[in-house]
Amino acid sequence: MPLSFIILAAGQGTRMGSERPKVLHPLAGAPLLVHTLKTAAAMAADKTVVVAGHGADLVRQTVAAHAPDTEVVVQARQLGTADAVKAARPALANGSAAGDSIVLYGDTPFIRPETLAKMQTERSNGAAVVVLGFRARDPGRYGRLILDQGGALQKIVEAKDATPQQLALDFCNSGVICAPTALLFELLQNVDNKNASGEYYLTDIVALARARNLACAAVACDESETQGINSRAELARAEAVFQDRARQSALANGVTLSAPETVFFAHDTVIGRDVEIGPNVVFGPGVTVESGVTLRPFCHLEGCHVSQGAIIGPFARLRPGAEIADNAHIGNFVEIKNALVGQAAKVNHLSYVGDATIGAGANIGAGTITCNYDGVMKHPTVIGAGAFIGSNTALVAPVSVGAGAMTGSGSVITRDVPDDALALSRVAQDNKEGFVARYMARLRTIRERRKNKS
Ligand code: UD1
Ligand code: MG
Repeated sequence: MPLSFIILAAGQGTRMGSERPKVLHPLAGAPLLVHTLKTAAAMAADKTVVVAGHGADLVRQTVAAHAPDTEVVVQARQLGTADAVKAARPALANGSAAGDSIVLYGDTPFIRPETLAKMQTERSNGAAVVVLGFRARDPGRYGRLILDQGGALQKIVEAKDATPQQLALDFCNSGVICAPTALLFELLQNVDNKNASGEYYLTDIVALARARNLACAAVACDESETQGINSRAELARAEAVFQDRARQSALANGVTLSAPETVFFAHDTVIGRDVEIGPNVVFGPGVTVESGVTLRPFCHLEGCHVSQGAIIGPFARLRPGAEIADNAHIGNFVEIKNALVGQAAKVNHLSYVGDATIGAGANIGAGTITCNYDGVMKHPTVIGAGAFIGSNTALVAPVSVGAGAMTGSGSVITRDVPDDALALSRVAQDNKEGFVARYMARLRTIRERRKNKS
């Protein structure tokens, strides 16, 4: 059956205290909204519609970058969740799209695909409208799910409109709702705003469906899944929750973490088995680490790929486009950007390697710098297999050093070096025998003369 997603993301998020739309604040290196988009993608959605409002242009840019097939519609004024869903109507064949729709929130990143699958099961068991609920530790201002004697969902009452008896219930609405797309839009036509908030409540569709003798059901999930983000404090808590889960899952998947609580993952980090990660390693987005890699303490990795058996760090920085081949070594205070470090090559100390290709088995001496930027453009450096770059070499790109070639330490290399050649570009050393002793003696004599005069 075709499946559509409607992701509500029009709210301003006043409590974030931010110029940025709430759903674009980052969690584990990706905007909140991207987490929800990933959930939809994991369900093999046929169509996903994001309802934007505040900062719609920025939301559109983010969606285009992360999920180009997703449509963004704009809800002109935030009149309530029912009005927000209605804004998606034109994007869903004017409400006549085949199959089901699931409504998600762009600020609720932890809903699991498995939970949505449970809701789909309830749909196939005959419920027209299925709502995701949870037992709230502090039900506060959540909508309450009212069940009938048989345990079927009867209606949803918003906290502001609830009686004291209803407020005493702890089974709450997560906001996630699944229904046939056509029925959803039909029911929405009859939602009004005669309630304590003067808003159009999406939650009203449950009572409207029941009035038409359609069965409704509530599926329960753990509260941690429905955690929404409304403030920076909640964002920080969500980050902690994400990191804790990512650490547990890394450990469960055969990764050694010597100090798990100090390692930070991104939403898309992929780590192979038998990888050893020391303390204080931080992953930005887009990192894949193959099995058997060692990441020593205090490394920062982002947008890079590390192949089997490589040893990285301590204190290494792998920036976007770093491709580290099998068994290569990247040592302390080394920065690699947009560069391929070949098999078993070594860049062990204090180097910057950018826009470069380093051949297999090459040895890059301490303090080597690829001077890749001329102030306007970036230029490539190519180092052949087995080359030996002397310490403190500056490679002024574009430049190449041939296979098996060598540069003298301290050289500034501005011209290509042929295979097997030695390139030296520094002032030849001149030893002046006895110079220092004679020089010091002369200075002392001058000092004595000045003293005697005064
Ligand atoms: C909503 C539910 C409540 C549920 C709670 C869970 C309704 C009427 N109430 O309440 O039952 O317990 O979520 O968190 O649905 N949004 C728009 N456009 C709007 C209004 C909201 O896009 O006009 C978006 C918001 O950005 C947010 C989501 O919809 O992502 C929920 O809106 P919010 O105002 O937070 O609803 P609650 O009052 O929390
Ligand atoms: Mg809310």
